[in-house]
Parts: sequence; C-alpha cells; structure tokens
Amino acid sequence: MAAPRRRPREPVEEQAPAPPAASAHSHDADLAELLAGLRARPKHVPSRFLYDAAGSVLFDRICELPEYYPTRTETAILRENLGAIVASIGERALLVEPGSGSSTKTRLLLEALPAPAAYVPVDISREHLSCAAAQLAVEHPGLEILPVYADFTRTFPLPLPRRRAPARIVFFFPGSTIGNFERDAAVRLLGQLREAAGRRGGLLVGVDLVKAPEVIERAYDDAAGVTAAFNLNLLAHLNRRFGADFDLAAFRHRAAWDPRHERIEMQLVSVRAQAVRFAGTTLRFEAGEPLRTEYCHKYRIADFGVLARSAGWSSVDVWTDAARLFSVHYLVGD
Ligand code: AVI
Repeated sequence: MAAPRRRPREPVEEQAPAPPAASAHSHDADLAELLAGLRARPKHVPSRFLYDAAGSVLFDRICELPEYYPTRTETAILRENLGAIVASIGERALLVEPGSGSSTKTRLLLEALPAPAAYVPVDISREHLSCAAAQLAVEHPGLEILPVYADFTRTFPLPLPRRRAPARIVFFFPGSTIGNFERDAAVRLLGQLREAAGRRGGLLVGVDLVKAPEVIERAYDDAAGVTAAFNLNLLAHLNRRFGADFDLAAFRHRAAWDPRHERIEMQLVSVRAQAVRFAGTTLRFEAGEPLRTEYCHKYRIADFGVLARSAGWSSVDVWTDAARLFSVHYLVGD
C-alpha cells in the first residue's frame, strides 16, 4: 500500500511575538520603509522586495547558472561531508530553515538526518513556501512539516512538533544569505537565532568566501541576464504592490565589487533623468543615479568565526571545497 500522503499545515500567520525572528510585514510598514529608502541618498530598498513569486522563480534559475558558483559548491560540500554534518546535528533535531525558498539543499539533510523531529521552512514568499512544503510532504510522508510564512529577520513563534519531541533546535541557513546583511545586522540576526535555538541548539550556515573579484562579479552579472531580470523584477513588484510606475526599460542592472567592504553591491541604475510616481509622491532620479537593491558580503573563514562568536556561537566544524570558494560552518551555543 502506498504511504499516506500528508499535506503540510497551512502556513502559520503572525502570532504573539516571541523569539525567534519574523512575520511578513504590514503594507503600511513596508510602505514607510520603502519611502524612507527611496528618499535617502543614495537611494535604496530592502532586498526582501526581490522575492515576490516571480523573483523567487528567477532566484531558483540563478542558482543553476554556470557563473553562480555558490549553489553547486555548497551542495557539493554538504554532499561530501554529510556523514559528519548529520552526526554533529544528531537525532530528533527540529530543523528550522530561515528563507527556505525551494528547500533544495534541505533535501540532502532530510534524507540523512536520524529521525528529525520536524522541518520548519520559513519564507516571505507565501506561494513559494506552500508549493515547496507540499512537494516535500509528498517526498517525506513520515516527516512533520510546519511551514511559517514570515520575514525571518523579525520575531516569530516557532511551531511545536506534535509527533516527536525535539532533542534540539537546529537552524539551517544555507546559500550565504547571511552575506545579504550588513555586519551589524548579521550579528543581530545570528544573535536572534542563537537565542531562539536555546540550550543545545545549533546552526548550520553557508558562507561565501572572498575570492578573485572577477569570479564574484560574473556570478552577479551572468551572460544570460537572469540576475539582471531578477534585479529589475523588484521594480515590477513595487509597481504591482504599491501602484508605482517604474519603467523597467529605464533602469539597468549593475553588480559592483566593493573591495573595502568585501561585498557586491547590486544596483538598478537610472539610464536617464526621470520622475517616478510612488505611493502618491514623485521620486526624481538623475541620469546614472543608482538605486541599491542588495549587498552580498563575502567573508574570510576566520572573520566569520569572530562574527559568529560575537553573537554567542562557538564553531564546532567548518567544511570547504578544494578551491576554497565557499564554506559551511556548524556552530553551537556557548
Ligand atoms: C540569497 N542570496 C544569498 C543571494 C546572494 O548570492 O547573495 C542573492 C542573489 N542576488 C543576486 N544573485 C543572488
């Protein structure tokens, strides 16, 4: 007889605040934050606006690009060191993935982990979260899946598994998403995860490493133009959600390496002087003026260790690839 197929529960909406992080933002809060960034100099918008449904699909395509080395490199590191990684995590872990997207790398862990208590994917794209959770439920009928629709940088309640009591909470934060946070915000986020993981908690985190700038710049400006489409889609997202009238043809994608901060700065550059209507106001762009959409920080292994320690984590193990493009760290609470 076929194994029973269990549908995951519907995504959990915002509940009473409690650590750890997040719930999707209200329209007014989003608007206020966007307006503040669009009126600032230089103009900027929070990178979470890259991830509407179309943006999430484009991001999945980025992960398969030949130039975008992080995904395949991290996946290979996870695959090659899976035995040691699952031994570190141990039995009956409640595996929580902030910004889970399609949960692709998680599948490797879920297949190897001994009796996980449950899997909690957390994502800001509701459609993407529901689809990924439904698909995983089909693949892992015995696993409790508790999707949470939330912005993981905010406080949100962790759902409790009903079937198996967790031995520990382990956050899985792959992809070098930590690199999308400025250093102070990265420490704050790591600290939030540390608090939420509690006693015996762990964090398995992927961190992209500093390397030749050309390699990094190519990864963020691919020949097929998928990253450009991903970046420009942010404007389409703002047009749809906030009734703005950004002309996508009047902006171009730029990904510039900033050697001082060791980060890529992703921008949309106005190709001409123009006025844009946004939420009842007029925004003026000069020709060549950048709108910052994302930072992607790259780390040295030792520097990331210092950052993690300042957020209360101790390093248990670090795995890298032979070319030292990428690293995966297992950390536990002090
Ligand atoms: C999600 N994050 C880790 C990606 C990165 O590489 O910083 C986002 C991305 N932006 C452009 N390409 C990929």
